[in-house]
Amino acid sequence: MTGHEHHHSHHQHGHGHAASQPGAPVEHAVSADAAIAQERAREAATPAPGRSVVQVELDAREVDWAFSPDRTTRAWGFNGQVPGPVLEARAGDVLEVQFTNRLPEPTSIHWHGLRIPAPMDGTDMVQHPVAPGETFTYRFRLPDAGTFWYHPHANETVQLERGLYGALIVRGDDEPQLDAERVLVLDDVKLDREGQIKPPGGWMEQHDGRQGPTRLVNGRQEPELTMAAGQIERWRIVNASSARYVRLSLGGLPFRILGTDGGLVEEPVTVEEVLMTPGDRLDLAVGPFAPGQTIEVTSLRYDRRTIARSRNERFATLRIGAEAPSRAVIPARLREIDSLVPADATPTREVHFGVRPSLRTVVKFVVNKQPHHRDKPVKVGETQVWELVNDTLMDHPFHLHGFFFQVLSVNGKPPAFRSWEDTVNLPPRSRVRIAWKADERVGEWMYHCHILEHHQSGMMAHFEVVA
Ligand code: C2O
Ligand code: CU
Ligand code: CU
Repeated sequence: MTGHEHHHSHHQHGHGHAASQPGAPVEHAVSADAAIAQERAREAATPAPGRSVVQVELDAREVDWAFSPDRTTRAWGFNGQVPGPVLEARAGDVLEVQFTNRLPEPTSIHWHGLRIPAPMDGTDMVQHPVAPGETFTYRFRLPDAGTFWYHPHANETVQLERGLYGALIVRGDDEPQLDAERVLVLDDVKLDREGQIKPPGGWMEQHDGRQGPTRLVNGRQEPELTMAAGQIERWRIVNASSARYVRLSLGGLPFRILGTDGGLVEEPVTVEEVLMTPGDRLDLAVGPFAPGQTIEVTSLRYDRRTIARSRNERFATLRIGAEAPSRAVIPARLREIDSLVPADATPTREVHFGVRPSLRTVVKFVVNKQPHHRDKPVKVGETQVWELVNDTLMDHPFHLHGFFFQVLSVNGKPPAFRSWEDTVNLPPRSRVRIAWKADERVGEWMYHCHILEHHQSGMMAHFEVVA
């Protein structure tokens, strides 16, 4: 299958396939002194005063995993589980991860949303993928509190689909106090009759992104969750699916948004539904509910202009038990977020998300007309105002590595509230304006569509932050 050849060439030779086309950008490879840069970054990572080093061992390996109780699936997991373990630390701690690859193919770990030094970003721009049997140490200080996640940045369409992803929780000093906390990692898989993960492929999957009918919460198909009546919980939610947009609803009941990708928002926002693109995270205050209530946790129909039709689909059922006392304290003001630039700031660059015809696939997904585009460098200290232009007829989740941004406007309209994000939806034929500031973390970074099939097809760009 042509799709398969395509991904193979991409991952064995980095971006070699792009370089083989006339007029395409030059191949981008890991620099010769990458290992030195990595070692420097490890040594430079020291905990903030009063904080410590959190050491974790992770491995990626094959595992027989039961998405539902009646059958097992050959999956890939971190430490033999899907999702991988929830990593927890405090802002200011150093996270040191000794990672061993026990898969039959190369892999790496990207720390989605973390503002860490470039050599630790886990992409094929800054490190050679970790070969089977090899070990690599990631070591960096965790600068921000929030809900983050980790996943491979190699052969993503296969490796994430098989179960390689996990949540990373970083706690701050001033967190709202809730009665309980849970981490919910959402995903979906496409299984065959035997309950095994179907190999990637097909023109529809390349176009829409892979969306499987088996919906998972923390590696279980549509689980039952229980919660005490009268209590308010903090739910940290990660959308780890390849392409699924989750328009989250709790049976139509109101809940409060406490935080987004980059940590707490300024004040709780009460909503009855919220859209999570692939890659997105949300912190919610959920409850209080009444004893005996049953609430469906669903993804409402969301038309992102795919070939496949969207429907309301259940992720979990929440059953409310007996009443328990609540000690939850949610302050009216959660934190201050200063605006980076005025809402009408002039863009410093335009970035176009587009498609172009392709002989081998339906279309090719590109940035600024090129697959694996090389974008202009960004200078340290410079405030960036980017106009993200979606020239296509479908939605794309834009994700920026290593930096948080503020959304200034979507089609000229300001967002409902101010927040720090690393992922934002680009609706069809839209203009989304964002602002971010390059700090001193020089090196190779990237941005891309977080629909994994689009990313693989080339809807991504590399750029350097320079001194
Ligand atoms: Cu979760 Cu390159 O991203
Ligand atoms: Cu690329
Ligand atoms: Cu896309």
